[in-house]
Amino acid sequence: MEAYTRKLWTKQERHPGDRLNLFAAVADAVGGRTVLYPGSFVDVAASSVFQSVTYVDSNRATPRFFADVDGVHEIISSQPGAPDDPEVRFIHSDYGDDLGLPPGSFDLLISLYAGFVSEACTDYLRIGGALLVNSSHGDAAMASIDSRYRLSGVVLSRAGSYRVATADLDMYLIPKSSVEVTPEMLHRAGRGIQYTKTPYAYLFERIA
Ligand SMILES: C[S@@+](CC[C@H](N)C(=O)[O-])C[C@H]1O[C@@H](n2cnc3c(N)ncnc32)[C@H](O)[C@@H]1O
Repeated sequence: MEAYTRKLWTKQERHPGDRLNLFAAVADAVGGRTVLYPGSFVDVAASSVFQSVTYVDSNRATPRFFADVDGVHEIISSQPGAPDDPEVRFIHSDYGDDLGLPPGSFDLLISLYAGFVSEACTDYLRIGGALLVNSSHGDAAMASIDSRYRLSGVVLSRAGSYRVATADLDMYLIPKSSVEVTPEMLHRAGRGIQYTKTPYAYLFERIA
């Protein structure tokens, strides 16, 4: 592995194994083989869980990381339970641009700390597929008002372990103060809504 790859991965993995635990809990809940991860930076832990992952990032540090194919595979295969022959694809692009990917071709879309991924990339997710999204940049709120989605679960975290809950979902996504959530308002704010309950992340199913 190139020193550069190791350096970026060390920076990414500040809590070793944390993302692996998250993605494993999501895989248990929703399954899936093909994953699209826009705004991934170098979070290749997804490939230790899912067979085929397409990473997209515009950061100028990322192409050199993904070009070290052997180094990236070394990282992926060092994790317990990693697929034998993971398919890793990287697109160096703004995720809002045309990514040249077939519509409806992914089982899971990941949106973590990277802006309004759901708004830009839902067309690539198949109907019946899942969106994993957290609320920090407002994308969970964006998905909550998108008629193509319905809330299907919440990801709860405790001391580095994760589990998906699917009961009592009407307790979630309730704003602390009364606000009208609109795409314009979320774009203006550029951050999430404060909700009465704060799970680590949400799972939405694409229904239309
Ligand atoms: C805070 S990092 C999060 C990385 C990773 N998702 C994680 O949770 O560890 C945000 C990443 O999203 C990328 N990003 C933000 N907006 C983007 C866009 N419009 N197109 C492509 N990448 C984007 C940035 O380059 C950066 O690498």
